[in-house]
This record gives sequence, structure tokens and C-alpha cells, in this order.
Amino acid sequence: MPIPEDIPQPDDGFYVLVTGANSGLGLAVGCRLIDEFLQTRPQSQSLVLIITTRDLRKGDATVRKLREHLSKICREQERKVPGIRMLLEQRVHFRQEILDLTSLVSVQKLSKRLRDTTPKLHSVICNAGIGGWEDLYWGRAVWTILTNWKSAVTWPTFKKSGVGWVTKPQIPITDDGKKIEEPPLGEVFCANFFGHYLLGHYLAPLLARHPPEENTRGRLIWVSSLEAYAHSLNISDIQSIPSHSPYEASKRLTDIMGITSTLPSTMPLVDEYLDYHGPSKQKTKPRIYVSQPGICGTSIFALPLILEYAMFAAFFVARWLGSQWHPVTAYKGAVSMVWLALAKQSTLDAMEAQEGVGKWGSACDRRGDERVERTEVEGWGWGGFLNERKRKTGRSPYARDLTPELKRRFEEAGEACWRELERLRVEWETRLEDAGVGTRME
Ligand SMILES: NC(=O)c1ccc[n+]([C@@H]2O[C@H](COP(=O)([O-])OP(=O)(O)OC[C@H]3O[C@@H](n4cnc5c(N)ncnc54)[C@H](OP(=O)(O)O)[C@@H]3O)[C@@H](O)[C@H]2O)c1
Repeated sequence: MPIPEDIPQPDDGFYVLVTGANSGLGLAVGCRLIDEFLQTRPQSQSLVLIITTRDLRKGDATVRKLREHLSKICREQERKVPGIRMLLEQRVHFRQEILDLTSLVSVQKLSKRLRDTTPKLHSVICNAGIGGWEDLYWGRAVWTILTNWKSAVTWPTFKKSGVGWVTKPQIPITDDGKKIEEPPLGEVFCANFFGHYLLGHYLAPLLARHPPEENTRGRLIWVSSLEAYAHSLNISDIQSIPSHSPYEASKRLTDIMGITSTLPSTMPLVDEYLDYHGPSKQKTKPRIYVSQPGICGTSIFALPLILEYAMFAAFFVARWLGSQWHPVTAYKGAVSMVWLALAKQSTLDAMEAQEGVGKWGSACDRRGDERVERTEVEGWGWGGFLNERKRKTGRSPYARDLTPELKRRFEEAGEACWRELERLRVEWETRLEDAGVGTRME
């Protein structure tokens, strides 16, 4: 299929896809990627930033904002180095696509289009997501914030989740008015995890297109949260539809599956998922990395303006009280995702060889200087080593020191989740195909 002319394909292109790029962390990831890419990558290389939003209007507005950001930083550089503006501007290309993660048909359509029109991908940042909260338990919010400020605004216990939310039917009613029966899909599960899971599977061949001599691997960057509590996820009810904490469950699933994706026990399932069939001269097996952005003021919990100000104030106070997990602004919160997308493969590999596979978080100090910091995961610790150094700060109230038993249970949970998600993926692919609405990936 000929590639349309408006699709950028620079010679030495670095291709990054960001989902949910129109607001909050997604938009900040776009801006930060541009900044760090231009600062750190050679002049010969160009960034192709593929952003996804839920409709064209949001996509247009996002590209406009990113272009404005690019122009601003190029003007600043021009003042220091006359003549550099044009050079820098030419090194960033934008492409926008539509994606609704709660529609598997939409995920498949976009994946097919990308497979047909994109030479390769370096990173896919699975950022989009919803909270699924309906309200706050106000009394508890005021009490816990006043009595235990830092913890209350880092690991809140006062968000009220919607229960029983499911997506719209995946299979539309046929022209002759017939409705094909289908099981429910949890909305939070699908928006935060399953939609991205399918997207990653379909895009794995593009992420794999790095010959070994490139010394890099395509990266699926999953976005988790500090609120990925072990007690939120019931593995026998992985979609958490009747749960009172579907958001936290979806993030725990992200942690478990991301972190266990490198273990020998999950390898056959992960290879199947990544469509990997052994070493080759043209391809390298992609990697899954887990990140979390700390706590940032975004519209994930929509609040009236006055309460939004109060939220930002509460977050800044937490930072001044010493919370390392309050980057507060989305730009600072984007640091871990952007670092994972741009870091040299040798750097990531060396850090993991020393400290184990972990969850990479956005942290900051009291002055607001941001950094990337490992985050403790219940049942895994910081890197899965039983004798690792325990950090004293940034631990969740539910954290427990790692024991062989906890680690064993975590690894078993990883295998069970991978098995279930692969089963669910194939089941839905078959269902969509049988109903005549699925897209076949060649
Ligand atoms: N903010 C934080 O403190 C925080 C902390 C931990 C983790 N996170 C994670 O960071 C990610 C971004 O959150 P945010 O805080 O930036 O929230 P946000 O400002 O609400 O942004 C969420 C983005 O996801 C998109 N989205 C929602 N449902 C979607 C769907 N079904 N299909 C496609 N796109 C969809 C939204 O698009 P629309 O505008 O069209 O709705 C929006 O672009 C989420 O995964 C969240 O769980 C955030």
C-alpha cells in the first residue's frame, strides 16, 4: 500500500507514539519529548511524534499546542545561536491519529493503519486512562488530609469509584437490527489496560524492527500509578467490574504484568504476545517497561476551579512537607516516561543488571527539581532482590518488606495474569472476526 504523502518519514527518524496526548501528562510527555530529544540526540536524527486522541478536533488542537511549544523553544535557542531555529524545527514531525481505547475495533483500525504506514516504532507510551471515580468521600478527605497530609494526598483513601462500569458494546447492531451477544468489558480495565494491551500486541512487529546492530529495543512504556495496591486486584476477576477500586486494580495489573514480563516463567506467553519467534538478523524483541508519574494536577479527577486550586495547594504543601512523589506539574511528572523513551538501551540494561527490573517513577525534591526514581512494588520490592537496600522514603502505607513467599506469590500472579490476558485477547479477536467487525493484521 503506498504511504500517503502527508505521513512524515524522515531518513533517520525516531518514532514515538503517545496515547491520550491532548491533556495532562500526555500533552506534557509530548512537550518534554521534544525538549529532551532536541537537547540529547544528534542533529541527523528527527523525532516523529505520533499522538493519539479521541477525535480530530482534539488532535488538531494538540498538534497546534505542540507546534507552539516547539516554536517557543526554537525561538529561545535562536537568541543564543542565530540561525539554529530552522534546523531544530525541521527535526520534529507531528502525526495525529484517532484512538478510543474502549473500542477494540478502534484499536485494531489504528494498529492496521500504523502497520501499513509506519516503517518502525521506537517507543509506544501507553499514557491514556481514566480514573472511573464519581465523587469524593468529603468527610474522610478533610480528616485524613488534616491528620496525615503527606500520606493522604499520595495514597488517598477518599476517592469514590463508580461500580459496574462497562464499555459500549464492541459489536454494533447489524443492519437488519440483530444484536450479537457479547460479554461485558470493564470500562476502566479496557481504557487503562486492555485497549493498550491489544495495541501493544498489534504494534509489536513495528517495535521489533531494530536489527541487533542498532543496539536498541522497541519499548512499550506502560503507565502505572502509586495507587497500584495489591489488595485492589482480585486475579479471578481481572476486569474488576463489580470492584470498588477498578482504577487501582488496573494499575496493579500493569505493575504485575510489566514487571514479570522478563521472567522465564512468563516467556512463552510474552513471546506469543510480542509475536517473537527467536533471534533474527532484522529484528529485536521489544521490551515492556513500567513507569509512574507521581502525583500531578491534571483533569483525571475533574474538579470545579476553586477545588482545583485547593488540590494544587494541597499537592505543593505535601511536597514542602517532604513528599518525593509530588512533581505536581504534568511536565515534571512526565520525566520518567520520557526518560524511558529516550535513554540508551545500554543505560537501561546496566541499571537493571545492577538493581533488577523495576517500576520507574517521577520524583522530585522540596525545590521541585524532578528526577527518575525506582518505586516500591508490593511483592517485588524495588528490583525483586531479597537482600536489596530498603529505601526509607516514598514507601506506601501498605508496603511490606520483601520475603521469599511474597516474591513467589508475585511471580505466580504474573504468570496467571499473562495467561488470562492472552486468553482474553484471543477470545475477543475471534469474537470480533466472527462478527465481521474485526480487522485482520497481515
Ligand atoms: N495525574 C496523576 O497524578 C496520575 C498519577 C498516576 C498515574 N496517572 C496516569 O497517567 C495517565 C494520564 O493521566 P492524566 O492525569 O494526564 O489524566 P487526563 O488529563 O485526564 O488525561 C487522560 C488522557 O487519556 C485520554 N483517554 C481517556 N479515556 C480514553 C479512551 N477510552 N481512549 C483513548 N483515550 C482516552 C483522555 O482523552 P479525553 O480528553 O478525550 O478524555 C486524555 O487525553 C493515566 O494513565 C493515569 O492513570 C496520573
